[in-house]
Amino acid sequence: MPLLPKSAGAPRAAGLHRRSLAWHLLARLLPAVLLLAMMDTVATYVITRKLSSQSYDRALVDTARALARQVTMTPQGPQLDITWNSTRFLDVDPDERLYFKVLANGVVLGGRPELASPPDSAALRQEEEIAVNEPVTSAVEMINNARPTVYDTTIDGLPVRAATLRFQLDGVPIDVVMAETLNTRSRFIEEVLSVLVAGQLLLVALLGFVIVTGVRSGLDSVSRLSDEIETRSIDDLQPIAVDDVPTEITPLIAKTNSLLARLDEAVASQRRFIGHAAHQLRTPLAGLKLESELMLSRTLPDDIRQRAERIKGVADRMIRVGEQLLVLARIDANVRPQDSFNRIDLVELAQECGARWIPAARQAQVELALAAPDEPIWIDGDAVLLDQLLGNLIDNAIRYRQGPGNIVLRVQDAPPSLIVEDDGPGIGASERDRVFDPFYRGQGSVAGGSGLGLAIVKEIAQSHGAHWDLRSRPEFEGTRVSLVFPGPRIGTHLTRMARNGAAV
Ligand SMILES: Nc1ncnc2c1ncn2[C@@H]1O[C@H](COP(=O)(O)OP(=O)(O)OP(=O)(O)O)[C@@H](O)[C@H]1O
Ligand SMILES: [Mg+2]
Repeated sequence: MPLLPKSAGAPRAAGLHRRSLAWHLLARLLPAVLLLAMMDTVATYVITRKLSSQSYDRALVDTARALARQVTMTPQGPQLDITWNSTRFLDVDPDERLYFKVLANGVVLGGRPELASPPDSAALRQEEEIAVNEPVTSAVEMINNARPTVYDTTIDGLPVRAATLRFQLDGVPIDVVMAETLNTRSRFIEEVLSVLVAGQLLLVALLGFVIVTGVRSGLDSVSRLSDEIETRSIDDLQPIAVDDVPTEITPLIAKTNSLLARLDEAVASQRRFIGHAAHQLRTPLAGLKLESELMLSRTLPDDIRQRAERIKGVADRMIRVGEQLLVLARIDANVRPQDSFNRIDLVELAQECGARWIPAARQAQVELALAAPDEPIWIDGDAVLLDQLLGNLIDNAIRYRQGPGNIVLRVQDAPPSLIVEDDGPGIGASERDRVFDPFYRGQGSVAGGSGLGLAIVKEIAQSHGAHWDLRSRPEFEGTRVSLVFPGPRIGTHLTRMARNGAAV
């Protein structure tokens, strides 16, 4: 696999998307919460308004009683104490205006005559008349016992709240009317309302915030999972772990895992098909090769010999492609190290494989050298596949060298690595990624190949959990392919998923 996995995929949507879970919850919950908040605000407003109005009314009635106590009986009849005049009331509160009126038997004793009496003053009068027949008590007592009537009216074009008291002073009915403007009351109610509305809006905003952050933190494991899937190699069709995802997501993961399992099976059957096809072609191709070799062993006219050689060349090439396809079909990137891997000494592998390539190297006038430590370097792997891998790299180094030169096989420890270096023409920077694709052949490639060599190297490296790296000119004078393997212990403890979904 490449040293750094490329992160591809759709950009993650930022903010609230119309289809997001948080948006869905907000759209469902917020209208209901807003309605409840509105109802709560209205109910609290009505109750507060009533209670505050009652306490303001009580204060107004107290002032009316204080005024009533200033009416005294003189030989000339009832009189209002001269110290009580309108200016005194007006000075009490700069924001509020107070008005009063005192009537004795319907005659104005003081105050503003235009101040309206209560709307049901007739009923009041009757009530008072009944009170006349009650046993005579002191004036103060009568004032204290008098039932006030509180009502809304206007004076000087201003809305006011008025309180009326009716009592008897030595048999003379006295009416005291006290009124005040509504500034303080309205201001209080406005303040209450604004605090209420602000509080409810804050509550709704808080709820929205809690929903959005709650959903996001609940889905954290899902984003972790999507990150993991995004960085997965396309060859990794292992099931997705369901351990720490919310239970609501589990069915989706289960379905995805079943799809992955089917896909894995489809890939495997495709590989098997390629393997079978390559195998089926093997015998007729071997026959063709043999026939051409038999032909060439005889004396032949030149043109027939040339044709027979071409047939043999084509048969050789097809046999090689068949072998390569068989190798590709054999590699299963999902195979776990424990399944088929053995402990292999990389030094021994390089020695044996290198020795087999010495005749070919000599023929191409290439010096093949091994640079390896004396002690073994162990990895877990498949010996046949690793031999193929190294063979493909040496084959390339010899084939593209074209002329005398040097090839070095290096084996290194910590981490275990296998390196093939040549001093050939190198691979252009634009081609370096593509040469690992199946059937891709470079610009300077010579006849005889099919572009499968490095694809096989890549597949084998992947199946061994190895990293690969390709360096070429100008950083390296030639071509240098290195493979870094996980050590034997790490190799056997790769935490990949078994096919039944359990972590191993
Ligand atoms: N050591 C090398 N030096 C220069 N070019 C190389 C080297 N190794 C590979 N290449 C380039 O990379 C391409 C892909 O190599 P790969 O081994 O995959 O296929 P191939 O050699 O063309 O065919 P095959 O290996 O299937 O016979 C080659 O065609 C060649 O252009
Ligand atoms: Mg090759």
